[in-house]
Amino acid sequence: MQRSIHFLTLLVLGISTAQAGSSSVPPAPNGIEFPTDYSDWRVISTSHRIDNKTMRVILGNDTAIEAARAGKTNPWPDGAVIGKIVWKQTEAADWKTAIAPGKFVHAEFMFKDSKKWAANGTGWGWARWVGMDQKPFGTDANFSQACITCHAPVKDRDWVFTTPAMLPVMHK
Ligand code: HEC
Repeated sequence: MQRSIHFLTLLVLGISTAQAGSSSVPPAPNGIEFPTDYSDWRVISTSHRIDNKTMRVILGNDTAIEAARAGKTNPWPDGAVIGKIVWKQTEAADWKTAIAPGKFVHAEFMFKDSKKWAANGTGWGWARWVGMDQKPFGTDANFSQACITCHAPVKDRDWVFTTPAMLPVMHK
């Protein structure tokens, strides 16, 4: 009896530890962990690519949002994480001339840590997870060179294309 109780306790502990651990989504090849809470982040801006017909929202964690609201984005502060979520555009169900997000394409992120990521020359850690099954993008840690090369035109804007969308001042 005693033994079976111990076994049960271990089993329960084991299960709750597994749940409390990080997500089941594997990390990016450069070791960056999937930011499981990104779907609760606030919006910095939105964009729409007319060449490949995709819609995007650009999100930030609390540190990024605070910086965006304060206009302190060059450089972005350490701890800021910017996310971009991409969907294929589709025609809105009830309004022909409106587009709406359809198939999920990917979620990608820039993690600002000027010390940790100094070696790649940007001060940002780069990571992307593809598709509904959130498969890490890239075969080895060098995948982020492609991100960095394409973001190089905005290196004087701390490697970030997005300008936070204008919002009226909130009077609380
Ligand atoms: C072909 C060029 C290109 C490549 C490659 C690329 N990006 Fe971008 N990225 C852009 C452009 C252009 C924007 C801004 C427009 C938009 O919303 O798509 C952007 C925006 C972003 C943003 C939102 C912040 C910002 O800079 O506006 C994140 C986060 C991001 N990219 C991450 C990545 C990551 C991670 C990779 C590599 C896995 C990557 N990008 C590769 C062109 C690129």
